[in-house]
Amino acid sequence: MNENGKTQRISETDVQRQLAICQEIKKRWEGRPGGPSLACVQTFGCQQNVADSQRIMGMLQEMGCGFTQDPYQADIILINTCAIRENAEKKVFGVVGQLVHVKEKNPDAVICLCGCMAQQEVVAERIRRSYRHVDLVFGPQALWKFPELLYGVLTGGGRAFSIASERGAIAEGLPVIRESGVKAWVSIMYGCNNFCSYCIVPYVRGRERSRKPADILSEVRGLVEEGFREITLLGQNVNSYGKDLEEPVDFAGLLREIDKIPGSYLIRFMTSHPKDAGEELFRAMTECPHVAKQLHLPVQSGSSRVLKAMNRGYTREQYLEKVRLARAAMPDLILTSDIIIGFPGETEEEAMETVSLIEEVRYDALFTFIYSPRPGTPAAKLPDPASRGEKQVWFDKLLDAQNRISAELHRAYVGQTVRVLIDGESGDAAWPLSSRTQGGRLVHLKGDTTLTGQYANVKITDSNTWALFGEIE
Ligand code: SAH
Ligand code: SF4
Ligand code: F3S
Repeated sequence: MNENGKTQRISETDVQRQLAICQEIKKRWEGRPGGPSLACVQTFGCQQNVADSQRIMGMLQEMGCGFTQDPYQADIILINTCAIRENAEKKVFGVVGQLVHVKEKNPDAVICLCGCMAQQEVVAERIRRSYRHVDLVFGPQALWKFPELLYGVLTGGGRAFSIASERGAIAEGLPVIRESGVKAWVSIMYGCNNFCSYCIVPYVRGRERSRKPADILSEVRGLVEEGFREITLLGQNVNSYGKDLEEPVDFAGLLREIDKIPGSYLIRFMTSHPKDAGEELFRAMTECPHVAKQLHLPVQSGSSRVLKAMNRGYTREQYLEKVRLARAAMPDLILTSDIIIGFPGETEEEAMETVSLIEEVRYDALFTFIYSPRPGTPAAKLPDPASRGEKQVWFDKLLDAQNRISAELHRAYVGQTVRVLIDGESGDAAWPLSSRTQGGRLVHLKGDTTLTGQYANVKITDSNTWALFGEIE
């Protein structure tokens, strides 16, 4: 959005100019000895970052690049970063620090840092001062002009930092490389307006802005025609989709439109903010056969006092009521959540309210985190008397409870036959194939990898806390 509240859309001419610059870079690189240039892209963080990296790789391919996992082989190295917790940032600084050796071996290699960390002024400053081997730093808002930024560095412009705190824009028509031919990520919106008090995302990803339905529909249609079987719609809060658009469309309406696209595919989406998820969404999910009966509905805490301090916009009771409504509409709904333990000022009693909430809801799976202070967020300024050790004890209690619940829910599948989509290799020699049920449960299978992309009916023979195991019928 720009200052008057309208989303700024990058014009087709501006996108075309970036693609023309890709061709310029291609020409520069073509002349060099030793064959085509190679790029090494490393991605940290959430699916939104994965989707962004796929666009960056699309642009690199336009520049004539091949790809490698080995930074020592690469002419250009891109680290796409995550800022959600301190650990994520530490990991990235470790990786970036190591790249100094790559630069020593190959002084012509271009090293780029992008993504959510790169949007923070403090990070840029640290890179500027202490990581002088990094040539280019740009935040998610500047992703669409990566070719132009890179061209500047390649043509002797020196180090470049593009982290101006723009509210964010939308660019259509950027190239993309999708690694899997089965699963695809489609961002339907960018940014976040919720400002949960612990969270850095609104500061690094800018304001909420939605792609136009026609652009999303044509992308999904194209993917279905190409044979993709599972399409996940991405946004920090998909339920506020469309609020910034002139045309009257909301997320439930978008799902209904996508669902009309003929073909054999499944639509998933994440994330739903509980304050905005409601009967309208649950009804659309029930009525759309292509939409998976799966909901990631992050509760964060089971204590209404903590939820208020987190600025989540719902109480424990309101959340439980949403779960009740969702399950009334979809009795076989697969429900997952995110939890933060140890928010500043949280007491043991409040942490145990979270444990009691998960016992009550019985989620299929949880993503659990210990609170990590993010400089610049309101929660980072709150007193935080509980020690790390105490928080760890609460966290372990939560995990024990969830592991037991997940194992119990999984055990109930044993003996049943379920339909799955085979999506690749599991990495487990005894059960080499990985697959997902309609609700997104992981099933490891026997069979060979040529089955990837196919549906199968599977008899579940075993289970543990994290997965089901089965044989194709
Ligand atoms: N938009 C999504 C969340 C994206 S971040 C939503 O609102 O649900 C993914 C998860 O990281 C969050 O749900 C939260 O559980 C966790 N998280 C975010 N900030 C955190 C912090 N400062 N410390 C610990 N966990 C955090
Ligand atoms: Fe962060 Fe809250 Fe926005 Fe999710 S909804 S990205 S937790 S501010
Ligand atoms: Fe991390 Fe940015 Fe995603 S902070 S979780 S990569 S939106």
